[in-house]
Amino acid sequence: MYCIKKVTDDLLWVGANDRRLALFEGVYSVPAGVSYNSYLLTDEKTVLFDTVDKAVRQRFLENIEEALKGRKLDYLVVQHVEPDHSAVIPELIRQHPEIKIVCSARVLQFIKQFYDFDIDSRIHLVEENNTLNTGKHTLQFIMAPMVHWPEVMMTYDSTAKILFSADAFGCFGALNGALFADEVDFAKDYMDETRRYYSNIVGKYGTQVESALDKASALNIEMICPLHGFVWRSNLNELISKYMLWSKYEPEERGVMIAYASVYGNTENAAEILACRLRDKGIKTVIYDVSVTPASEIVSAAFKWSHLVFASTTYNAGIFVTMEALINDLAAHNIQNRRVAVIENGSWAATSGGLIREILGKCEKIDFLENNVSILSGLKSAQLSDIESMAQAISKDFPAPAGVAAQNNQTVPNTTELIPIDPNAMFKLSYGLFVLTAKDGNKDNGCIINTVMQVTVTPVKITIGVNKANYTHDMILKTGKFNVSVLSEKAPFSVFQQFGFKSGKDTDKFAGSGEALRTTNGVRYVSEWTNGVISGEVKESIDCGTHTLFIAEVNQAFSLSGDASVTYQYYFDNIKPKPQPPKGNKKGFVCKICGYVHEGDTLPDDFVCPLCKHGAADFEKL
Ligand code: FEO
Repeated sequence: MYCIKKVTDDLLWVGANDRRLALFEGVYSVPAGVSYNSYLLTDEKTVLFDTVDKAVRQRFLENIEEALKGRKLDYLVVQHVEPDHSAVIPELIRQHPEIKIVCSARVLQFIKQFYDFDIDSRIHLVEENNTLNTGKHTLQFIMAPMVHWPEVMMTYDSTAKILFSADAFGCFGALNGALFADEVDFAKDYMDETRRYYSNIVGKYGTQVESALDKASALNIEMICPLHGFVWRSNLNELISKYMLWSKYEPEERGVMIAYASVYGNTENAAEILACRLRDKGIKTVIYDVSVTPASEIVSAAFKWSHLVFASTTYNAGIFVTMEALINDLAAHNIQNRRVAVIENGSWAATSGGLIREILGKCEKIDFLENNVSILSGLKSAQLSDIESMAQAISKDFPAPAGVAAQNNQTVPNTTELIPIDPNAMFKLSYGLFVLTAKDGNKDNGCIINTVMQVTVTPVKITIGVNKANYTHDMILKTGKFNVSVLSEKAPFSVFQQFGFKSGKDTDKFAGSGEALRTTNGVRYVSEWTNGVISGEVKESIDCGTHTLFIAEVNQAFSLSGDASVTYQYYFDNIKPKPQPPKGNKKGFVCKICGYVHEGDTLPDDFVCPLCKHGAADFEKL
């Protein structure tokens, strides 16, 4: 019996899940299974994107027959010849001899290497940016070599704005009835498996992934359909921003991953003590026993954390076997750009530390800590200072929060007691005020923000902090594009009301704004009451709890007037109407941002202004 899912009105998922696979590619454990995705476009021509692994061929063939509903199969687009996506091609051709195979010359070469069917009579060769019209849809072919094999090709459906991304953006794990990433708690349940998939499958090819991302950035993508894992139709930037980090070998989190190989527990003990000392200093730590945790999970963790510590006993005059396999695996996956420390153990000839350094030293931008720890059989109390020295050396890379620094007698600001965060101190920062605009499909939207900062000159990069409650936030997360219109001192209060005190979900922020002025990224900007416009393209996003910090490259910027930029202080002193106390003897609290008055004796700590969404800290008693 078939099991298919609808992706769009004329696109069906016809893949299948496999939960019995012991090891993906014979190497990677997949305890939660894996999906093999295939998609059928039912346009005037029918187009199948890739096939599946032989393990699920029966279900796949049943799916195809149901999805076609008696129509012939016109095209099979082969994007990747690895057999988990191509194994069923010969059988599919026996059932549908009319198929034309659409692929690149490199794909054709690999198909011929793997299979013996007659392909020459049914080939439709394509090259970079060639297109194929299938009726309503136009498919554009984009080469993505080494993501993850040399022949890999992606396909962009410019009509539906869908990127069929081959292995890229894939994930381990069966789909369990869902199809879209937004149907599950992706960050909690699947991001680790996405990172493990990326780091182990294409981690070695960061440069090539960056090149594919560059090509994709030129496309208007509203949906990503990978060959494994979930389809992305919202918050695309959640995943794309991770790929940007991973492809550059930038760590996602600052903290220390400790991996140890220990025969009788002595090396393990040293690793545990180091972790305790690091935690004492407020530094995040994770520990793995390399004889227990599959190497693919530790490789994935190495792609996540900024600092790596390897602790290994010496075995047969070399590195302990499981650690040696891990270190070689990390080097093979091109790990780079990390701070690394080594602990070695050896009862008569400790060599593991030097050998680890030798292997990892060949990787790019691996910065070894000077402090080594060398143990003879078991850690002795005299060596606790060596562990502490290593922890101290690592902690220099982690500016300690004041509280932790004080507890550890580190240098702290000239105050002897820990004081809570005084919001008035935060208001001493010289914020500006800006209209942040975005566009998603036909929807234009905007909001007011006060956190825009230039961070680099070459290339010009800025950061913006955006409250997650703002609809504009979600649009930027999805599209990765925005404009900042810098408000001038001439801006009237109505501009702040228009963009700051309403939700774009139910109002048109540009209503009555006249001509729709746009920058080259297609996003509207505000030309009245502003003195400059900056267009940004998001390169990274950092989840900061209530807000997301977007780091963006500026791709357009121009001045509109010589008027002075408005500051937060100027807004309060000269633009914002002074709040009027409630009539009678009513008590209340007034929002310092927008003037909203909450009547009552108390204001709950978690109160949020219904107008401007600022919290209780921004209210003052009337
Ligand atoms: Fe899922 Fe590279 O094959």
